[in-house]
Amino acid sequence: MVSLRSLLFFVIVPVIVISGCESLKSSRAILPIKEYELMIAGRFDANYVGTANCLAACHFHDKIRRDFDASTMGVQLSKKSGMPLVDCESCHGPGSLAIEGLTQEKVELDAREGKQTACDFRTLIDIRNLPAQARSLICLKCHTANATFNLHNWNASSHSLGDVSCSECHKVHAGPDLTVRLKDMVGMCENCHRDVQAEFALPSHHPIHEKRIFCVSCHDPHGTTSMRMLRKESIKETCTQCHAEKEGPFVFEHADTMEDCGTCHKPHGSVNNNLLTQQPPFLCLQCHSGHRTSGTSSAESKGAFYTRCTDCHSQIHGSDIPSPVGRRRFTQ
Ligand code: HEC
Ligand code: HEC
Ligand code: HEC
Ligand code: HEC
Ligand code: HEC
Ligand code: HEC
Ligand code: HEC
Ligand code: HEC
Ligand code: HEC
Repeated sequence: MVSLRSLLFFVIVPVIVISGCESLKSSRAILPIKEYELMIAGRFDANYVGTANCLAACHFHDKIRRDFDASTMGVQLSKKSGMPLVDCESCHGPGSLAIEGLTQEKVELDAREGKQTACDFRTLIDIRNLPAQARSLICLKCHTANATFNLHNWNASSHSLGDVSCSECHKVHAGPDLTVRLKDMVGMCENCHRDVQAEFALPSHHPIHEKRIFCVSCHDPHGTTSMRMLRKESIKETCTQCHAEKEGPFVFEHADTMEDCGTCHKPHGSVNNNLLTQQPPFLCLQCHSGHRTSGTSSAESKGAFYTRCTDCHSQIHGSDIPSPVGRRRFTQ
């Protein structure tokens, strides 16, 4: 006889597990790139009409046009530049249907009636409602990894995988600046990364809000080959870009703890001084036992339990000079 329990175990559970996998697979299907390409092609019954025709008589878009003409991409609008042409339809799709029937006379008539003439923008690509990957593809069709070197790792980046698209950070029509200006960057990143924002508000923190360093000093938002999209290979290399004096190698190393600054430090902020993960002596006592004086001159301190470890072991990151008591105590 098959017991209910083994039936459950050998038949029902595997069925649930397998069907669970099935639904995982189908709910997180990655569309073939072709389907995204179709989404950004625009209507097949529309034709390209050129920016001049798009914007003829449309004062509604004057500011957008001015900003765009002044931007790096807009500068390419001049054919003389020899660069690929970027115009409104490069991103919004062919516009002939949108401007059908939009004559100078109609615009003037509307104006007399106090109306704003709108083009039939629903015939254009519905950028806002595209899935993030398709939205990024609008940009990637020109900004290929070869054309824009820092996008080499985009597809595997946490942002791409986390459904963050280019235009979430690059506000194409917010002004003539297409790239993200340093002064706006921290606010932009922290808008989504609230937990990180909280870390930078802790008593000991890297001077991000003081605008002395920036998120992009350590991270590349377009992805890298390192963990956490760090610009450098490791945490240590990230830190020693600016704190070169901690890099070593030292004659007297603090064993291999220095291979990862993260053993003792937080990268963003901490409640403890010096961005430490824990306050000394507890930091040190994770790995060492504390000790008492073994016979110093002061009778008072004799036998006292030391707590301020770095008062004496001041060269905690390693040193090239042996300590007065011999060996390598990181003291000087
Ligand atoms: C590099 C790609 C790109 C180009 C070139 C471009 N746009 Fe856009 N446009 C976008 C994106 C992306 C959005 C969606 C805006 C957003 O989500 O912030 C948008 C939105 C808009 C909107 C809607 C704005 C709103 O607030 O709802 C208008 C109008 C517009 N674009 C007009 C233009 C005109 C006119 C041109 C040519 C001068 C142009 N665009 C060129 C990418 C582009
Ligand atoms: C039709 C081609 C084309 C499309 C589509 C396109 N770009 Fe560009 N983009 C260019 C060219 C050409 C330049 C100027 C040359 C360069 O800097 O590489 C440029 C420059 C830029 C720059 C650099 C600006 C600077 O000042 O350094 C940014 C940022 C940018 N584009 C973002 C985007 C984003 C975001 C999208 C999608 C919404 C997009 N582009 C879509 C062609 C394009
Ligand atoms: C999470 C935010 C974010 C996303 C998503 C993002 N970018 Fe950027 N991008 C930035 C920031 C910040 C900078 C400025 C970097 C710097 O100053 O080092 C930048 C710079 C750039 C530049 C200028 C590069 C240069 O060398 O000056 C281009 C071009 C660009 N991004 C294109 C894109 C494209 C295309 C996408 C989508 C595939 C994209 N970005 C996605 C934040 C982002
Ligand atoms: C539109 C929202 C948004 C913006 C703006 C944004 N991020 Fe992100 N970021 C995300 C999402 C979503 C993820 C993926 C989350 C995850 O995997 O846990 C992510 C992941 C990351 C990660 C990697 C975390 C990991 O575990 O690998 C880093 C680092 C990061 N972002 C830095 C930045 C920086 C720097 C900026 C500003 C230039 C920025 N982000 C702007 C939404 C955003
Ligand atoms: C001094 C270098 C440095 C700066 C500046 C910095 N980070 Fe980080 N960040 C790191 C390191 C190192 C890690 C990896 C920590 C780990 O995993 O041990 C990290 C991890 C992260 C993570 C993933 C883990 C987490 O803590 O949630 C996110 C998201 C992130 N950073 C976002 C940001 C944002 C946003 C900014 C700017 C406001 C920023 N970082 C500024 C070095 C830095
Ligand atoms: C882009 C340069 C830069 C990078 C990269 C960098 N730092 Fe810093 N760090 C600074 C600056 C600037 C200060 C502030 C110094 C001051 O106030 O005099 C600082 C301060 C510190 C402090 C002292 C904090 C305090 O409360 O006084 C520690 C500890 C520290 N950094 C550790 C690290 C670690 C660990 C990393 C790697 C995750 C790192 N730093 C990466 C620039 C950097
Ligand atoms: C074994 C723990 C430990 C490791 C690992 C460690 N630190 Fe420290 N660090 C400390 C302590 C403790 C202090 C506070 C020193 C003091 O109180 O005099 C400190 C202070 C600092 C300071 C600020 C004071 C100063 O000396 O400039 C910086 C910057 C710093 N560390 C950078 C780094 C970097 C970069 C790494 C990785 C290469 C690293 N630390 C690895 C324990 C450590
Ligand atoms: C992650 C574990 C770890 C932490 C945290 C740590 N250490 Fe160490 N430390 C070591 C190791 C491992 C050695 C090498 C031991 C050996 O060679 O016998 C060492 C060596 C030392 C030595 C030299 C011993 C000798 O033989 O000369 C001193 C002094 C020391 N640590 C002090 C400290 C102090 C002070 C702190 C706190 C600021 C600290 N350590 C934090 C792991 C750690
Ligand atoms: C008043 C100065 C002073 C303070 C404070 C101090 N130490 Fe020491 N430490 C020394 C001296 C001196 C030696 C060498 C003693 C010896 O060789 O007998 C030493 C040796 C060590 C050693 C090597 C022991 C061995 O047997 O190889 C370690 C590990 C150590 N200390 C860790 C710590 C830790 C952890 C703290 C904080 C809880 C601390 N020290 C606080 C002065 C101090």
